[in-house]
Amino acid sequence: MKTFIERATEIQQDMIGFRRKLHKDPEISFKEYRTTEMIKQILIRFGVEIVEWGGETGVVGLLKGALSGPVIALRADIDALPIQEENDCVYRSQNSGAMHACGHDIHTAGLLGAVILLAERRNSLSGTVKFIFQPAEEINAGAKLMLEKGVLDNPAVSVIFGLHNMPSIPCGKVCLKPGGLMAAVDTTFLTINGVGGHGAIPHRTHDPITATAAIIQGLQTVVSRQVDPLDSAVISFGTIHGGDANNVIPEKVELTGTVRTFNPTLQAQMPERMRSVIDGIAAAMQTEAKFIYRKDLPVVFNPPELAEWCRGPLEKVFGSEGVINFSPSMGGEDFACFQERIPGVFLFLGVGNEAKGIVNQWHNPRFDADEDSLRYGAAALAQLAYDYMENRR
Ligand code: NI
Repeated sequence: MKTFIERATEIQQDMIGFRRKLHKDPEISFKEYRTTEMIKQILIRFGVEIVEWGGETGVVGLLKGALSGPVIALRADIDALPIQEENDCVYRSQNSGAMHACGHDIHTAGLLGAVILLAERRNSLSGTVKFIFQPAEEINAGAKLMLEKGVLDNPAVSVIFGLHNMPSIPCGKVCLKPGGLMAAVDTTFLTINGVGGHGAIPHRTHDPITATAAIIQGLQTVVSRQVDPLDSAVISFGTIHGGDANNVIPEKVELTGTVRTFNPTLQAQMPERMRSVIDGIAAAMQTEAKFIYRKDLPVVFNPPELAEWCRGPLEKVFGSEGVINFSPSMGGEDFACFQERIPGVFLFLGVGNEAKGIVNQWHNPRFDADEDSLRYGAAALAQLAYDYMENRR
């Protein structure tokens, strides 16, 4: 029998076809209607049962093997971004202002390849594969909605695998990293209330602008003085609004920001550490702070033992030289929400190719991925599911 990577190489043209169709017709988060329809048609063609999961977009497919065994989920995200594509290629986006600039078309086409590979082996599968084509990853909402609707139940999933493309890794290689791979993502909302007045008479005001400046500086000391230097954290403010005139001290200043961490203990401590700096400085400057800290995503964390198990299956696809370690990303991924519920491993699939000029990073209007990576992505997911069943039999 052919190996998964051999067979994936044979169906490479089909996967390139899927990918280009998706790339030409990108749909943004929770608007993936035509994408959903296309995925359903392909699943039906290969005899995979469609499960009504309870959402308008996104697809869940069930492939039952001939023998009983565990349920393994394979997940891909399917949404595009509100970005105007600047690539000039035959498969360029036809939808103005929308683009697969994070390569979710590669993830979707690769998982469709895994559907074909595993459906062909249905008679020797000892278990069930649940294919999860998830909407709305880019707005941190799709995984949460699917989990709320019980996507991991009926039948209950034992383990989940997924991947994200990585342009910094050459095509043909995969990053398998035990532990934290992508950061936890939190959002902050801060309002500093003072007493406004004339810019020339500051002693009759409680100036929220000066207080805000001190608070922003003070918060950076949380990272530099309160976080272990060998740990990592980022506090960034992306918006700041206050005042309407050069000589008027306003009543309030409003800010929004993002906080990234890798260590769950540290993530749990961040709201209080930030709050104590904010409240202390605000009070010292006779202003009042309103601080809201919203936890959006946990860290993408690969349980070390399960990650180590993945090495065997992955070496069958990429060779021993092809399975590499790589630096973690401060970016976030809502695959973490699945990992909060059940064991799961997330990989970075190499899609970079300097010789082909494929070097641009995620969310860049000239982002692209080497399509040769499709066969690797498909084979990796199929091999992980297949070997997991074999090992648990
Ligand atoms: Ni992405």
